[in-house]
Amino acid sequence: MSFDLGGNTHHVPAKLFVDNRSRLVTELRKVTQKPGAFVVLQGGVGRHRYNTDSEDLPFRQESYFFWAFGAHDSDAFGVIEVATGKAVFFPPRLPPDFAIWEGKIRDEEWFKTKLEVDEVIFNDKYAINDYLTTHGAQHLYLLKAPNTDSGNTLVPAAFTKRPGFNTPVDTATLYPIIANLRVFKTDLELDVMRYAVKIACEAHKDVMKSIRPNMFEYQCESLFRHHSYYHGGCRHFAYTCVAATGCNSSILHYGHANAPNSKLIKDGDMCMYDMGPEYNCYASDVTCSFPANGKFTENQKLIYNAVLKANREVFKAAKPGVRWIDMHLLAEKVLLQGLKDAGILKGDVDEMVKSRLGAVFLPHGLGHLMGLDVHDVGGYLGDATARPTQAGLSSLRTTRTLQERMCITIEPGCYFIDMLIDQALKDAKQREFIVVERLNEFRGFGGIRIEDDIVVWANGNENLSSSVPRTVEEIEAFMKH
Ligand code: GLY
Ligand code: MN
Ligand code: MN
Repeated sequence: MSFDLGGNTHHVPAKLFVDNRSRLVTELRKVTQKPGAFVVLQGGVGRHRYNTDSEDLPFRQESYFFWAFGAHDSDAFGVIEVATGKAVFFPPRLPPDFAIWEGKIRDEEWFKTKLEVDEVIFNDKYAINDYLTTHGAQHLYLLKAPNTDSGNTLVPAAFTKRPGFNTPVDTATLYPIIANLRVFKTDLELDVMRYAVKIACEAHKDVMKSIRPNMFEYQCESLFRHHSYYHGGCRHFAYTCVAATGCNSSILHYGHANAPNSKLIKDGDMCMYDMGPEYNCYASDVTCSFPANGKFTENQKLIYNAVLKANREVFKAAKPGVRWIDMHLLAEKVLLQGLKDAGILKGDVDEMVKSRLGAVFLPHGLGHLMGLDVHDVGGYLGDATARPTQAGLSSLRTTRTLQERMCITIEPGCYFIDMLIDQALKDAKQREFIVVERLNEFRGFGGIRIEDDIVVWANGNENLSSSVPRTVEEIEAFMKH
């Protein structure tokens, strides 16, 4: 059964999660043949808005738990026996008046059919503990998952233990295995991601058709959200919507609570819209940059085409076996050449790259793994090299070599950020490459980012976001009223 929202929304079969659990036990069996080994995972905990008993946003499941069980219930646990793969789901035991406030209390059979697990047990006080004891648990694999993006660590499952329960716990083995499995998407996962990104593209196109100078940025965010939810069934978004125009478009993560997409859009503004719905917890992450009035100026065209060339060159070069840092450096090189062609920079492009001038215009990483989290896990596992320390490269969310079935964003950008420009002008080496008067023409221009979501394949990458207009000509034709 698993999940859909009827109509044309994508049906996600429970098999997606059955397969993930099977992949997990297959990998675990390679490193442990211990008898009585069980994985215990804890789902997310529902939270209320400060000082009230109402939810702020509808509960969104913790991603590792979701990857294994596909369940949207808060405060649930899951147990998987490594030797047999048997999966038991432990939903919370709900109080009777749940039926008044929240609706029908589902029984074990309902959960069993929905999630395709082997058994369902309501989580009464020692339920998990009792299950483990009666099934001969001798080793517990719990998830302690550091996150290289947030710096947070997901803490191991905290289930209530009967006094005297002393089964040994291992919190080191599970994390690298499960996080690395999340990096490589199955066919069923890719179907969900294709759908989420398709909805993102359609919503971006709706915004591009509807935008007019003198609207507010947040009205574009609102249109995007409406399209994603009304037409795509996407209730959640993978990150805060960035609907930046004019000089705001050089603020990489504009749109937060203190900069809530609130500017009036002016004729002549460039828009940099980075917005992505998620569907059944799978993320999309698409950025479209375009002129608010539908017609590029010559300067906008120069910068846009330099960024687009960087995006396209990386798409062609990003093959299995290629290291992601090298793709970032390729993007910088193409971008800097574009800025040189635009008369903003002068001199040798390779020397510019060495001086780290690329990071002045492209301070963020070229892209990141994506999946159940928009900045997905596993970027510094596998064959990753240590996080670089040089400007720009230090922002990379992965240094791995690319492999088939990785889903990654390609999102070069070019931003005119006064603080970084001023720093570069004070740096003797970087200043040599800058045509100061010409660069000054671009102060206040804002920025441009072109972000695609791709799947890496040996026979040529798949661009999940190929349906948005991308070239200057395509955008101008599409936006013509
Ligand atoms: N939207 C967040 C990012 O592009 O990484
Ligand atoms: Mn983005
Ligand atoms: Mn991104």
